[in-house]
Amino acid sequence: MKRIICKNYDEMSRLGSYVCAEQVWRKPNSVLGFATGSTPMGMYKCLVDMYKGGMVDFSGITAFNLDEYYPMSKSHEQSYDYYMWDRFFAHINVKRENVNLPNGGASDPQKACEEYENKIRLCGGIDLQLLGIGNNGHIAFNEPGDSLRVRTHVTELTENTIAANARFFECRDDVPRRALSMGMGSIMQARRILMLISGKSKAPVVKQMFSGVVTPQIPASVLQLHNDVVVLLDEAAASGL
Ligand code: PGA
Repeated sequence: MKRIICKNYDEMSRLGSYVCAEQVWRKPNSVLGFATGSTPMGMYKCLVDMYKGGMVDFSGITAFNLDEYYPMSKSHEQSYDYYMWDRFFAHINVKRENVNLPNGGASDPQKACEEYENKIRLCGGIDLQLLGIGNNGHIAFNEPGDSLRVRTHVTELTENTIAANARFFECRDDVPRRALSMGMGSIMQARRILMLISGKSKAPVVKQMFSGVVTPQIPASVLQLHNDVVVLLDEAAASGL
């Protein structure tokens, strides 16, 4: 894993947007994997600015997001579908039919996961996958535990993640208890991975993730086995290294 320490959040976001834009310049029909959370917001803003300045054209890309709460309607302000359109997709020229997120409204979530996984495969796999990391080491909703799931699946959120995400909901009880999430295999099959990490609260997990040990207790540690991962950290997140 290559790590690049950036001065602050803005520099990390700008550098992240260059990595994404460069992927699209090189391959205009790239399949890009996107992530939600507070960390990538600055990067999305930079990419929107680049698009508006005529520097990058997203008309050929296909997008897949990592995860979605379950059950969750697309129109709910806390759905990841809403987040992505509100902050990014609605402001660039990606084709609506090329945007994919796990279906939080599916009546058969298991089947929806299988279809999602198949669709990624049919599109030729992900060229560049963007990731954040939870302070418990999760990536997407692959939560720490005794084992990790390989493919897109239905998962139970841990209490730690429910508590961390409660800040976006009116109260903790409103946070959905389940989610649909790409699995570790889905993520590890991406040709390139770009991870953004910001803030002091992530410093302990960053240290564990780079420890040289791979463990399901720190799902992000599995990324050490991938041969093309770039981690952009701000100085606060890197302070324990
Ligand atoms: P954050 O979430 O960007 O809001 O810290 C990251 C994650 O939980 O994966």
